Amino acid sequence: MKKNRTEEDVYILAVESSCDETAAAVVKNGREILSNVIASQIPLHTLYGGVVPELASRKHMEKINQVIQAALDQSGMTLEQITAVAVTYGPGLVGALLVGVAEAKAIAYGAGKPLVGVHHIEGHVSANFIEHPDLEPPFVCLIVSGGHTHLVVVKDYGEFEILGRTRDDAAGEAFDKVARAVGLGYPGGPKVDKAAKSGNPLAIHFPRARVEGAPYDFSFSGLKSAVLNYINHANMMGQEINVPDLAASFQYAVVDVLVSHTVDAARELGYDKVAIAGGVASNSGLRDEMRRRCKKQGLKLYYPSPVFCTDNAAMIGTAAYYEYINGVRSGWDLNAVPNLRLGER
Ligand code: KG4
Ligand code: ZN
Repeated sequence: MKKNRTEEDVYILAVESSCDETAAAVVKNGREILSNVIASQIPLHTLYGGVVPELASRKHMEKINQVIQAALDQSGMTLEQITAVAVTYGPGLVGALLVGVAEAKAIAYGAGKPLVGVHHIEGHVSANFIEHPDLEPPFVCLIVSGGHTHLVVVKDYGEFEILGRTRDDAAGEAFDKVARAVGLGYPGGPKVDKAAKSGNPLAIHFPRARVEGAPYDFSFSGLKSAVLNYINHANMMGQEINVPDLAASFQYAVVDVLVSHTVDAARELGYDKVAIAGGVASNSGLRDEMRRRCKKQGLKLYYPSPVFCTDNAAMIGTAAYYEYINGVRSGWDLNAVPNLRLGER
């Protein structure tokens, strides 16, 4: 008997180049990762204390062909066996995105495969599906990365209701700026996380900002200023700064707000599942506190392994699978959209 088209296995070759990782992956039926190759540019950008967009684009160009070839080789698949090619087309750095978009279009066109443009944030959310076969929408998801802080309801695959977002800095950006101010270097998140492990989170009280009239929105610029003021004051007084205490207290202030908003949203809106996503979702303080408060409230918590929290192409392949089976196809005019909004096509 001829199988129904939708029952056939779907293999997606996914490409991600929105910031400082050049990544490619092959994903089977949305949740099975056959390969996940990531060429990180962190050592390059560390020299400058942050991502230099022009250098990121050049490095993507240098690496992208070999990363894609490695992803195909490691998956044991040939390009002919791939069902569709997916690529992150926004949001992100325009020059960096363009490298992936141009490459994916060329490969898909040359091989006669459909093309699926993927929203980077939808990719981060979808990272949760990779290791949790039982996770299905609807659920509340907190997305915390270097460029984004969003609290959403994932109503269905690819369908989001935005509950709140940051009014200023993203959570990861706050980590990176504080790390730089205390000389921990770049990227700041993992360094603050490590330093915080030996510090006292109650040593210094930093403010937890609430946004008037928007209970699920975030604001981190006041916290960042409070940390910088604390450092300047200590320097002026000739006092030594206890970096682990400062890191732990700052991290706790960020985590407290992130967890409160997320747990409150799930309870108030009646959802029993919560997920976290994005680079900051690998923060051990955030994971611990989320676990503690979700357990207390009877909420089921999901989070990806650290390798699927920071930028990778497996999550793009997973998101693309659900778009693909829903009939989403991109045209050959697909372009990079640096400010692409969530839920927009
Ligand atoms: O998701 P991602 O790789 O890239 C964006 O889409 O932005 O996130 C990168 C961000 C950086 O700001 C980095 O400092 C932060 O995630 N990050 C962390 C940790 N690991 C990465 N922040 C806190 N704790 C961590 N363990
Ligand atoms: Zn990201």
